Amino acid sequence: MDLIDEYTAQQRWRNWERYLQYLPVRDGGHVIDLGCSVGGVTDLLSSRVGWVTGVDLNNEFIKFCEKKRRPNQSFTCDSFESVDYEAIGPISGVWASFSLSYLENPQNFLTRIHDALEPGGWVALVDVSCFLSGNMARDARHHDSVREFELNSWKSGHYDFDFGSKMESMLKLAGFNVIHYDDNVTDAELNDSGPASREVINNWRARLERLDGLRNAFPVAYEEVCSEILSFISSPPRTKRNNVKFAVGRIT
Ligand SMILES: C[S@@+](CC[C@H](N)C(=O)[O-])C[C@H]1O[C@@H](n2cnc3c(N)ncnc32)[C@H](O)[C@@H]1O
Repeated sequence: MDLIDEYTAQQRWRNWERYLQYLPVRDGGHVIDLGCSVGGVTDLLSSRVGWVTGVDLNNEFIKFCEKKRRPNQSFTCDSFESVDYEAIGPISGVWASFSLSYLENPQNFLTRIHDALEPGGWVALVDVSCFLSGNMARDARHHDSVREFELNSWKSGHYDFDFGSKMESMLKLAGFNVIHYDDNVTDAELNDSGPASREVINNWRARLERLDGLRNAFPVAYEEVCSEILSFISSPPRTKRNNVKFAVGRIT
C-alpha cells in the first residue's frame, strides 16, 4: 500500500465533521492546515471558510492536493517552521491534526502561531497519546518496552507519541484560552473498543511496515511487537484508552 492510499483510507475513520463543529470559523476567514497530507480536512474546511492554505513537507502529498485543488485552496510544500506566517496576511485559524507531534519544540511553535493569528483567531489540535502502547494489551510481553521506546523518542527530540496529552497545557502556556477539549475521542483506527475492521487492520499493517524507528529498537522481536499490536486491535477485549485527544484554543 503506498502512502497516498494509506492516508486516503485513514480519512474514513477520522470522522472529521465531529471535530469541525467546535471550530469558531467565520465565512471569509483564512485557515492554515498544517500537515495537510492528502487534503481531507483542507477540503472540508474550504466549504466553511474563505480560503485554506495546506502546508506539508511531503511533495508527493502536495502534488496530489494540487491536482484536485478547489478555487479557494492553495498548497505549499514547506516545513511548518519555515513558513512566513506574517507574510500570508491575516490568519483566522490553524488546524493541525496528527502533525505537531513531529516538531522538536511545539511549545515555541504554538507561541509563534499565537502571535501570527488575528484577534479572535483559533488553533485546533488533534493528536495521539500512547500511540502504539495504547493499542497493545497492558500485559503484552513487549508493552512496557514499547512504552519506553515512545518516551525515549520524545526525550531525544524525535516524534512525540504522547503529544496529545500535552496539547491543552501547551495551548494555555502559549496564551490561548482553551474553548474545547476532549481527551478520549473515538477513532476506528487509533482509539476504539472491540475488534477493528479488516481495512483498519490492513492500515495498521502498512504503518508497521514503515515504522523504521520502532523496527530498529526491536531488531530481534519486531515481528512479535507487530503481532501484539495487530492481535490487540483485532480482539474483542480492545478498549478505548484515551489514545486520541482534541483541543481548540482561541485568542480572546
Ligand atoms: C500523520 S500525518 C497527518 C496528516 C493529516 N493532518 C491527517 O490528520 O490526516 C502528518 C503530516 O504532517 C507532515 N509533516 C510532518 N512534519 C512536518 C513539518 N515539519 N513540516 C511540514 N509538514 C510536516 C507529514 O508529511 C504528514 O503529511
